[in-house]
Amino acid sequence: MRILWAITGAGHLLKESIDVLEKLSYKHELTIIYSCAGREVLKLYGYDKNIEEIMDRNPNNKMIKEEEQKYSYPFSGKLTHDKYDLIVISPTTANTTAKIVHGIADTLVTNVAAQSGKGQIKCVVVPVDYDEGLITTIIPPYIDKKLCIECNKCINACAFDALTPPILDTKKCTCCKKCVDTCPEEAIIIGREIELYIRPIDAENTRKLEKIENIKTCRHPYDILPVILKMEKIIEKKKN
Ligand SMILES: Cc1cc2nc3c(=O)[nH]c(=O)nc-3n(C[C@H](O)[C@H](O)[C@H](O)COP(=O)(O)O)c2cc1C
Repeated sequence: MRILWAITGAGHLLKESIDVLEKLSYKHELTIIYSCAGREVLKLYGYDKNIEEIMDRNPNNKMIKEEEQKYSYPFSGKLTHDKYDLIVISPTTANTTAKIVHGIADTLVTNVAAQSGKGQIKCVVVPVDYDEGLITTIIPPYIDKKLCIECNKCINACAFDALTPPILDTKKCTCCKKCVDTCPEEAIIIGREIELYIRPIDAENTRKLEKIENIKTCRHPYDILPVILKMEKIIEKKKN
């Protein structure tokens, strides 16, 4: 299948979205697109290496960045004739969800969502703000500058050259945590969980998203795999 996967600027469910992309990359042709925030957040969490590996698995895979597009987002315009079997937006920020449900198309991802409807291409969206209430999420790795005394004890613990105290290079960091115990000040923060409150307005927007004709919402990126399996069977049946 030809799958177009959009990544927006959410840290929540980002790792799980990449896990699914990883699985799909062995079998399907992928075009990965980002919102500007999506690209930034991906770098902050240090997942760009994972995307590079995914891209290398198929010579037909493509990557489209919002910053390389013009104001009319020519890439999204092509969707009506350069057909994809499926469009996935995961993770989807509260911002992108709100824009889609209000018919706003002013970013690469929101333009793709709008064009998916016009081109009648099935679109699966994983909004990170599903139900009102508290969720637990992980923040990107960093060195707390207020605590770091620049003793440099952590540098040798890192096999990937990711540490120049008080800076942690998320592009190089693999979150192996080998540096954490070397720090006498507990300044290296990796995999820290925080609680976030999902606002009623954001949960309400997700309910509205569920009502848009060509859009199917999933609670979790892992729920996308059965959808794709079902689509594969239908495509196979049509061929025979
Ligand atoms: C590290 C980091 C993590 C973020 N995680 C989320 C998130 O989980 N959910 C969300 O709605 N916004 C999150 N944001 C904020 C969005 O990136 C921001 O609202 C951005 O404008 C969204 O743009 P986009 O919808 O075009 O991607 C995060 C920002 C940063 C810096």
